[in-house]
Amino acid sequence: MGKNELPDNKAQRVDWVMSADTNEELVRRYDVWAELYDSDVGSYEDYLVPTEAVRVAEKTLDSNDRIFDAGAGTGLVGQTLHDAGFLELWAIDYSAEMLEIARSKGVYREIHQCDLGKKTHFADDSFDAVITCGTTSQMPSYSLREFVRLIRPGGHIIFAVMTDPWESCGYAEIYKELNAAGKIDIQSRGEPFQMMPTTEPDFYCEIWTMKIS
Ligand SMILES: C[S@@+](CC[C@H](N)C(=O)[O-])C[C@H]1O[C@@H](n2cnc3c(N)ncnc32)[C@H](O)[C@@H]1O
Repeated sequence: MGKNELPDNKAQRVDWVMSADTNEELVRRYDVWAELYDSDVGSYEDYLVPTEAVRVAEKTLDSNDRIFDAGAGTGLVGQTLHDAGFLELWAIDYSAEMLEIARSKGVYREIHQCDLGKKTHFADDSFDAVITCGTTSQMPSYSLREFVRLIRPGGHIIFAVMTDPWESCGYAEIYKELNAAGKIDIQSRGEPFQMMPTTEPDFYCEIWTMKIS
């Protein structure tokens, strides 16, 4: 096990990570991929999600909002938020190696290695907003409950949603339950766009905003 288990062909690396059987194994594979993630995804795959999500953040959030980047990975979203003038940024991810790359960017106030599928050490209402990109088929769907706990009433979730895994991975069901309890409401759903138009033209995503009550 180690760096040499990463497929040589960069086109196969996303599939290799995604074919993990458990969330723990998925995160371990992110540890292995971390060093090459930015060049593979950011440059080669032409990954557009951070730019699109931050465009929505600029319309929805205040620049001094405390925002946590859930499944922050190597910090591509944090870097884009920082470039747009958001400075109160916390990175949370389960992969220590992905977070080491994020740390090197110097854009986050704090960096925390946590499993967002479980209750984290943060107090209720700790943040004004969460932004999460590239995570719909990756983080456990009950992370949505943790987002709701961590965001103050009136705060926002900006979620880059792939609609198939939103249903099949259980987010839709948990959203329904939280919405029925009056805790969360979808405010807007952006138009579908190609996440990685160069290499994965069939992968679409929408940026949704949700408000916490
Ligand atoms: C496709 S990457 C997205 C990274 C970054 N948001 C981006 O858009 O480039 C998915 C991230 O979700 C993280 N992740 C997966 N399961 C998680 C969990 N249970 N808790 C926290 N992070 C998790 C992985 O470690 C990985 O960094």
